[in-house]
Parts: sequence; C-alpha cells; structure tokens
Amino acid sequence: MSNVTLGVNEFRGRTRLIEYAENDRLRHMYMVGKTGVGKSTVFQNMCLQDIRNGQGVCFIDPHGDSVDWLLERIPEHRLQHVIHFDPSDTAFPFGLNLLEARNEFEKDFLVNECIQIFYKLFDPGKVGMIGPQFEHWLRNAALTVMAGPEGGSILEIPRLFIDPEFEKKKRSYLTDPLVIDFWGKQMASTSGFHKSEMLNYFMSKFGPFMNNALMRNILGHRVNSFEFDKLMDNRNILLVNLSKGKIGEINAHMLGLILVSRLQAAVLKRANQGGAYRTPFYLYVDEFQNFTTDTFASLLSESRKYGLGMHLAHQYLGQLPDPIRDSIFGNVGTFVAFEVGIEDAQLLAKEFAPITDLDLISLPRFNFYIKLMIDGKTSSSFSGTSLPPEQVAGTRNMKEKVIALTRLAYGWPRLLTEETIRRQLG
Ligand SMILES: Nc1ncnc2c1ncn2[C@@H]1O[C@H](COP(=O)(O)OP(=O)(O)OP(=O)(O)O)[C@@H](O)[C@H]1O
Ligand SMILES: [Mg+2]
Repeated sequence: MSNVTLGVNEFRGRTRLIEYAENDRLRHMYMVGKTGVGKSTVFQNMCLQDIRNGQGVCFIDPHGDSVDWLLERIPEHRLQHVIHFDPSDTAFPFGLNLLEARNEFEKDFLVNECIQIFYKLFDPGKVGMIGPQFEHWLRNAALTVMAGPEGGSILEIPRLFIDPEFEKKKRSYLTDPLVIDFWGKQMASTSGFHKSEMLNYFMSKFGPFMNNALMRNILGHRVNSFEFDKLMDNRNILLVNLSKGKIGEINAHMLGLILVSRLQAAVLKRANQGGAYRTPFYLYVDEFQNFTTDTFASLLSESRKYGLGMHLAHQYLGQLPDPIRDSIFGNVGTFVAFEVGIEDAQLLAKEFAPITDLDLISLPRFNFYIKLMIDGKTSSSFSGTSLPPEQVAGTRNMKEKVIALTRLAYGWPRLLTEETIRRQLG
C-alpha cells in the first residue's frame, strides 16, 4: 500500500483526511510557500508513512533537520533498508561517481548531465561563463576518463591534460571515432598556450572539489557506494543530509545534483527495460531548485511511466528557471500552495481559481490550498491543514544505529579512501 495522508480538510463541520493514492502520486506533487509555513513537515510526515508502509524512498534534505527527524522514527523492520548519506561524516566517506556508466546510453546521458551540472553551478544564467568550447572539451575529456575497465571520476579529468602517460593509457581504450579525433587531430594541433589556458579553466572549476578533502574523498571514488537502480527496485530508504552549514553551499549543490542525475539515469534504465511492472519509488526534494538541471523538466513528463513519484518543494517561483517552471505547470498532477508573496499569489491564483491572490497571501501557517490528483484527474482547489510533526516517545537512539549500520555497509574508511584516490589522481 502506498497511499499517504497529506493533511486534513474541514468542510461544513466535517473533518476528512486528504488521501493521496499510489497511481496519482506517480504524477508528482509540487509545493510552494514562504518560510516557516510547514512545507518540510508535510514531506517528513508523508515520507514517514512511506517508510512505515514498506515503500522505497529518497529524501534530499538541504538542512538536515528532516533527515534527522526521520532517522529517529525508522521502524525496526526497516532498519536494514536505510542508507543514510551524510557527506560531513568524513571518517567513512561514501563514493559518489557521476561518471560510472554501464552502457553507451548511460554514458551519453551522464556526460550530458555532467555538462548541465557545470552550467548550473558556474553559469546558471548561461551568460557565456562556460560556453561551447568548454562544453566540447569537457564532453570529450569525460568520455575519455570513463573509457577502459576501471572507468574514472570527474576529478580525474584535469589529469588528462597534465599527465601524458595517463592520457596515452586512457586514449588506448577509446572506440568512439569522434573522441579519438578530438585527441588525435584537434588536441594535436592546439597550441600549448591555448591548452594551458583551457587547463586553467578546468582547474578553476574542478580545483575547489579536488582541494577539499571532504569532497575529494566522495567524488574521487570510481565506484558508487550503492547502485541507484537496485536502490529503487529493492525499496530502500535513502536519506541524504545536505546541510550546507556543514559542508558548504556549492558542495551541497554539487552532491545533490549528482544524486538527482544518478536517479534520473536509473529511471531511464527502467525505461529501456520495457513495460514490465516496476516497483514504485518516491523521491522528496526540498528546495529542489538547487538540485535539478534543465534535464529534470523532461524527467517530470516521463518518469510517471517508470514508477517514480516526485515531491518537490520550494519557497517562491522566482527560484525556478523557465523550463522547469513550465514543465511543472504542464506535467505535475498535485499542487499545494501555502502562504506566498503577492507576486506568486497573482500567478498561482490562475492555477488555483476560484481561489484568489488575496486568499493565497492571507493563509495562516500550516494551512494550504490544494489541487489533488484523484484517479488520474486533478481536482478543483480546496483547502487543507497540515498534520503536526509526530512526536516520538522517549529516546530510541535509532539515528546512532542507522549511522553505524550505514557506515559498515556503504562507507569506506577514510585512510583507505585517501590512499586509493591519491593514486588515481596521480
Ligand atoms: N501542522 C503543524 N502544526 C504544528 N506545527 C507545525 C505544523 N507544521 C509545521 N510545524 C512546525 O512549524 C515549524 C516550521 O515548519 P517547516 O520547517 O515545515 O516550515 P517550512 O515551510 O519548511 O519552512 P522553510 O521554507 O524555512 O524551510 C517547525 O518547527 C514545524 O515543526
Ligand atoms: Mg523547509
């Protein structure tokens, strides 16, 4: 069973639970509202119900509070399914490799994601800070790093331009004529000056991740700590703490972007497996605008078919790039609006009519308007109240148990990690 309760509705003196059903959830939920109105709490409550119901979930939490809250409430029978990814746990770093690919399709998808991520982090408005030249070099370099039986990580990309032995070895594995020509023709005729200029450019982007021990020990792994398709098929519970206070904002964004890209790749792999029944999986992304590239827009329209139900929340519409915003209003089945500012209220009032902009700006905390997908159709808007966060009786020390189990199963000891990555980076 994967229905969950979203909140309650009062109508003519009667209180009803607002139930959100499995098939409708695969059409996704979008939630917007000012700070402190109760958005994260709605996700926490829903995710906890999923966990209790035996569902597979991933919760990407930009603050860490929601993940900590969920950890304390993990039921004993789900303990073995939890993967708690806390990048600030430097003693047992996880491996997260964007470029680990198992087939040609995945390779292309991941290299494109790699480029999108660099745009997102370093040139979000696409004003030319990155540009076609860097894109071209990055694409070819990433495909080269991935070549060969061991594969490679994004941190190995600059080494291609510094270490001729490494370059030679990697090139010997290449089979794609375009990439072979990139090295054999284009690079061979590029001046030393131009090469070093490009290398500086690469280093200015990759350097901060290579010089930061925490990030190097995660991104430098060639193998991911867990496989994302198995995670979905086995109904695991991936709880990701991306608290920027602990790891830094750009690092938090980088890791979240990679995670969402890897999940997308896993979903697309499901697509290639044909139409067999797929275990549903539920993704919660709080403040999702930080963790999604433009590719995400197409995932929204397609992922329903592949059993991924997404829940996306953020504070105000100005945070979303146009393609994402259009895709949301074109594809999402369930909309929830808490109190918003006047500008957003004017835009949202069109979606929520007959609710007006004045209704939307004067909502009390923990109250919302919702358009709920019911049996494949989006309902007209009605009001609701969210559920308070459930209290736990006594202390269960569940968080400590999960951390200990997860470290053993998915983390690598720091010294071993450092030694391996030092060798790989040359
Ligand atoms: N229905 C509720 N009843 C009582 N308290 C609630 C309810 N929902 C949330 N709260 C409490 O209100 C506070 C703010 O809620 P929450 O963190 O979910 O807001 P938010 O919309 O996610 O804010 P932000 O955008 O800043 O992240 C929290 O302390 C939470 O425990
Ligand atoms: Mg929040």
